[in-house]
Amino acid sequence: SSIFFTWSLLLLINPFEPEPVAEPSKYGSLWPLPQKVQISDVSYKLSSSNFRIVDGKLSYADPSCSLLQDAYRRYFDYIFGLTRKHGPKSGRTGPSELTELQVWITSPDTECDGYPSLASDESCESLSFFNIQLLDLIYYIVFILFPLFLGLETFSQLVYEDEYGVKNVNSSEINDFPRFAHRGILLDSSRHFLPVQVILDNLETMAMNKFNVFHWHIVDDPSFPFMSKTFPQLSQKGAYHPYTHVYTPADVKKVIEFARVRGIRVIPEFDTPGHTQSWGKGDFPCENLLTPCYSGSKPSGTFGPVNPILNSTYDFMKQFFKEISTVFPDAYIHLGGDEVNFSCWKSNPDIQKFMTDHGFGQDFSKLESFYIQNLLDIVTTTNKGYMIWQEVFDNGVKLTPDTLIHVWKGNQQQYQKEMANVTSSGYQTLLSTPWYLNRISYGQDWQEFYKADPQEFNGTETQKKLVIGGEACLWGEYVDATNLSPRLWPRASAVAERLWSAMDVTDLGDAWNRLSPHRCRMVERGVPAEPLFVSYCPREYNGV
Ligand SMILES: *[C@@H]1O[C@H](CO)[C@@H](O)[C@H](O)[C@H]1NC(C)=O
Ligand SMILES: *[C@@H]1O[C@H](CO)[C@@H](O)[C@H](O)[C@H]1NC(C)=O
Ligand SMILES: *[C@@H]1O[C@H](CO)[C@@H](O)[C@H](O)[C@H]1NC(C)=O
Ligand SMILES: *[C@@H]1O[C@H](CO)[C@@H](O)[C@H](O)[C@H]1NC(C)=O
Ligand SMILES: *[C@@H]1O[C@H](CO)[C@@H](O)[C@H](O)[C@H]1NC(C)=O
Repeated sequence: SSIFFTWSLLLLINPFEPEPVAEPSKYGSLWPLPQKVQISDVSYKLSSSNFRIVDGKLSYADPSCSLLQDAYRRYFDYIFGLTRKHGPKSGRTGPSELTELQVWITSPDTECDGYPSLASDESCESLSFFNIQLLDLIYYIVFILFPLFLGLETFSQLVYEDEYGVKNVNSSEINDFPRFAHRGILLDSSRHFLPVQVILDNLETMAMNKFNVFHWHIVDDPSFPFMSKTFPQLSQKGAYHPYTHVYTPADVKKVIEFARVRGIRVIPEFDTPGHTQSWGKGDFPCENLLTPCYSGSKPSGTFGPVNPILNSTYDFMKQFFKEISTVFPDAYIHLGGDEVNFSCWKSNPDIQKFMTDHGFGQDFSKLESFYIQNLLDIVTTTNKGYMIWQEVFDNGVKLTPDTLIHVWKGNQQQYQKEMANVTSSGYQTLLSTPWYLNRISYGQDWQEFYKADPQEFNGTETQKKLVIGGEACLWGEYVDATNLSPRLWPRASAVAERLWSAMDVTDLGDAWNRLSPHRCRMVERGVPAEPLFVSYCPREYNGV
């Protein structure tokens, strides 16, 4: 979905021109903006020597579950950052000093080992996720629903430094829940290999922005870095390098666990029948996975999409997706299905004969549907749901009702029409078209990302409810470990607020005033997030 992308030029007509130094917002530096916020003028001091994050007395937190303790430690470090090492040591507390943040888990069935799911976010319509409030000099975060870490992020964003370098927090009341349940980032580890640490760092930054889905576009035409236990040849032959440029089973586990404890789901994408050149390099038992292309009456020596007419193809897919379904715990797998180039299929006489035998005529999208149909049946037997790119829907493939249709094509008018079409057919959908962050241009393009809204199309309330969210995509043609973070952040933060905050949070001026300090906060936490415009941060990125 990245190569043949056609898009009208991004025209920045009269962009909002901010002042270099952000004005204070009445919402401080909160990002994304919570659903309900009240920040008062009453401020309290915090010091690293006296302040503690602890379980509430009647919290359902399981003491044997390290998930929470780890999160407390993480956020304690974020709150006090550098001053923890160099700041004042007091030991004595003043009258206006806060010493405790109590965390209350109100539900008995929050599992320590559980995985976040689409349902855990969706069940929350109008219910708070969490509630932050100051009472009697104790700050409370009450978590009503899993995931538990989002409120800690919000609390850490309330803390600011005064002119003496002392940490302060104002008395505030916050009620929060996300507008959309699916808030994703797509990274592409095929066009360039992304070292595991880069992926982990990015998950950490995603949590700071309340993203909850990592869409791992793990393999594609250029390389196959996923190490399969069933078919090790795939990465041995298909990766850029069989040892240094692969994700071992341990690497994949590490990514999934790191994401899990941050409330982030990992959805892998194994895109077929197109985008599979690297799959063909493995010399596995079913040698004919890809279609031999013909030049006239002879094979040309090149290969096209997956060969849809061989039984061996489906035998392979059965075994392959059986493994995938056990490696990745999420309930969904992304099956791709985009940009199938029919020219190789057309050239192949065996395929032509198959087309005639099946009454497909010259309509190769019928052959594609035939393949996808078989693939979906295979994946259904693994008890996974699936996401697919919009072409699969456009070509009329029969889908199960819980299929998620991923819209990525066209200009604004076209994608809005597509969202209307998909939802009028009763399918759930998510949007990526306006959020191809690999596309760069001079200027403040974050404003364009910020303005796009996945529910803006002509449709009924029922249709709008079928929109589960969206994903910012960072395709890998021109991205590797050297430039991933600055290209993605803080531009993806604009998408984060669109997917989290209320629909009417659209003021570009206030967004600038909060996004600037949010970007500086990411920088202070060690993320090389690029500048939005002329400005400065109190502590600049120092390269370590
Ligand atoms: C927090 O309190 C300080 C001191 O009273 C005040 O100047 C500031 O505006 C408050 N912050 C917010 C975001 O309201
Ligand atoms: C492929 O499988 C189908 C259905 O099981 C069967 O009818 C057909 O004969 C098989 N084709 C080959 C070439 O084995
Ligand atoms: C499809 O593949 C053929 C042969 O490999 C190539 O010439 C053609 O440009 C491709 N079409 C597109 C739209 O990329
Ligand atoms: C909706 O999609 C179907 C299938 O692609 C197509 O036949 C139909 O024309 C589309 N309708 C609209 C209103 O775009
Ligand atoms: C929505 O419908 C109105 C009136 O029919 C039309 O003018 C407008 O272009 C439509 N918008 C989209 C995004 O299709």
